[in-house]
Amino acid sequence: MSETVVTTVNGRVVETAVEANELLLDFLRDRLGLIGARQSCEVQVCGTCTVLVDGMPVSSCTHLACDVDGKEVETIEGLVGTPLHDELSDAFVRHAAVQCGFCTPGMLLTAKALLGTEDVATEEGTRRAMAGNLCRCTGYRSILDALTEVFDAHRTPRS
Ligand code: FES
Ligand code: FES
Repeated sequence: MSETVVTTVNGRVVETAVEANELLLDFLRDRLGLIGARQSCEVQVCGTCTVLVDGMPVSSCTHLACDVDGKEVETIEGLVGTPLHDELSDAFVRHAAVQCGFCTPGMLLTAKALLGTEDVATEEGTRRAMAGNLCRCTGYRSILDALTEVFDAHRTPRS
């Protein structure tokens, strides 16, 4: 059974029929060609499939496409070209926080959602907040350093 979904993906309105059991990851990759969301564990553990739905990170491998009806979806393709993407990617490169890059799109989108929140006011908080995004290459130290630099730059000083 299919149903019509109207959603905004990276600023573009998309209206299409989706199957009731169609996953958001498949919708984005197979229908829209947005392959920046990566398929890996498929059980909401690794974070490589992370996209933002109304600004909140979700694992698109377990999120139904029909559940984005009326919502805004942002993938890494929507972040690319923005000043924040340049800032994050510059920090990742400077700190050598990218090796194979498979985890990086999900990392950057989760980071965008956390920017300016108390969740990332400390390194321990950042570790907890980023715990759903796994990296098999870097050992995390370099990612934490890159993220801390960007999170600190966006922190509003307390008065
Ligand atoms: S592929 Fe979705 S969390 Fe791993
Ligand atoms: S850079 Fe390879 S998985 Fe993170």
